[in-house]
Amino acid sequence: MTFDAHPRSSLIVALDFDSISTAVKFAKQAADLVGMFKVGNQLFTSAGPEAVRQIAQLGTGIFLDLKFHDIPNTVAAAVLASAGMPGVQLVNVHALGGTAMMRAAAQAVSAGVPMGADRTRLLAVTVLTSMDQKAIREVGIGGPVNVRAVKLAKLAQKAGVDGVVASVQEAKAIRKACGREFLIVTPGVRPKDKGAGTKTDDQARTATPREAIKAGADFIVVGRPILAASDPRAAAQEIVDEIAAAKS
Ligand code: C5P
Repeated sequence: MTFDAHPRSSLIVALDFDSISTAVKFAKQAADLVGMFKVGNQLFTSAGPEAVRQIAQLGTGIFLDLKFHDIPNTVAAAVLASAGMPGVQLVNVHALGGTAMMRAAAQAVSAGVPMGADRTRLLAVTVLTSMDQKAIREVGIGGPVNVRAVKLAKLAQKAGVDGVVASVQEAKAIRKACGREFLIVTPGVRPKDKGAGTKTDDQARTATPREAIKAGADFIVVGRPILAASDPRAAAQEIVDEIAAAKS
């Protein structure tokens, strides 16, 4: 994947809608302000691969965020199918699926698409940004969440995965542990609110776009702060400006 240096390249906007028509209408309005659109479980389950085809026609890259977590053979087939769809630059699995699953996914992504700078990249989700310390303890995962996320990132890298989806809180430690080339994508990003305070929705570990870039994120994923804004273009532009300032 060849990323241009423009600050907007670092912004991935989550198209968390139920219908293709709403998603495409929104994407058309914002396509010149974003680096990629994210098609996730909500849109893909409602509208299927056709959603990816139509978004791809806008010429913006796509992060197909389906977070596979299944037996290696099934995940490899799903990753292969995902990477073959038009415009898909990023696909992902859950690191908690383990080494064999991640290795199968990494092999599938490099087998199915041409090698080189433009090949689809595989990411692993470390710990969902909606989960805090209590939530991960409840599912039987011990130790501090930030330590766990770094360990999962290292495991993913060892399995041949190109990068991770992680919270901003862990990005710095992951960058240090996994090096400059390893991709870091951070959701849970909330621009600072000028009014009554920042709305976090269901995200537990949030940070501002500036904090994300300063922590070493290559991409930030933003959904509701843009989708639900009264002026989504202005909200996206503000985030791009904040990315630009953080990079300068
Ligand atoms: O609306 P919001 O900005 O919270 O959207 C974040 C997007 O990033 C959602 O589409 C969500 O599925 C996704 N995501 C996340 N945490 C992860 C991986 C993906 O929030 N660890």
